[in-house]
Amino acid sequence: MAIKSSPSQAYPAPHVVLSVGGSLLNDGAPNTQMAKALASAIMSAGISAGAVCGGGKQARAEADKARDKSGSEFDADMAGIAITHKNADVLRKALGAAAGKKIFTDFLSARAAVGKQKFIVMGGTIPGITTDADSALLAEALGAKRLVNISNTAIYDSDPRTNPNAKKFDTMSYAQLISLAQLSDNRRAGTHFVFDLLACSLIARSNIETHFVDGRDLAQVKAAMLGNKHNGTIVRN
Ligand code: UTP
Repeated sequence: MAIKSSPSQAYPAPHVVLSVGGSLLNDGAPNTQMAKALASAIMSAGISAGAVCGGGKQARAEADKARDKSGSEFDADMAGIAITHKNADVLRKALGAAAGKKIFTDFLSARAAVGKQKFIVMGGTIPGITTDADSALLAEALGAKRLVNISNTAIYDSDPRTNPNAKKFDTMSYAQLISLAQLSDNRRAGTHFVFDLLACSLIARSNIETHFVDGRDLAQVKAAMLGNKHNGTIVRN
């Protein structure tokens, strides 16, 4: 179901949601310069967008502290979520008035803002998931048909950091992406794949075309937002 803004409303409903990797936005503290650079690339695309920000290094450090203190994974996740909110607020501010006065922390409030603001910015929502899954859920909530995952890599058939012969996918199906995410999930708990398994299943069930781009090259971000050619990976049916 596509969410429509009414003709009297100022902005069209976003067709694109961005999943902004925490590693880009926070290497121990929110990176305001990076948020500003990313915000200019987002604004230069000239379209409405949703965005969900990850936690990065500071989220992992705060989660570790919370876990050490209480032994609770719930508390560790809540500490991580708090940092995603900080990062999201830095991106919201960099996007200016068109991103409204606050970030959203649940999907229905985010959806209620459609038409009233050009950019809808969120952080994490509930413990036990990640901002990859949040971005897929926001895309579903807004009826957005494209998701752009902005991190530092495209999708490869094996880890390019350890395998020099790893092959990059230009395009791939949802089923192929799910298989790769499953492989990573099974290998070792906590093994990191570019997009987590829940997020992969969500984009597949709602046929949300997902672009994986390297956020250090902002021209790639803009191209993916507009559905133009880029150097990353496109996942679709
Ligand atoms: P992410 O793991 O999504 O951030 O959230 P990230 O830094 O972008 O992740 P990478 O770069 O892909 O590793 C940070 C942490 O916040 C908690 C989890 O503990 C997660 O690891 N979190 C986030 C939640 O519990 N729920 C959410 O909805 C989002």
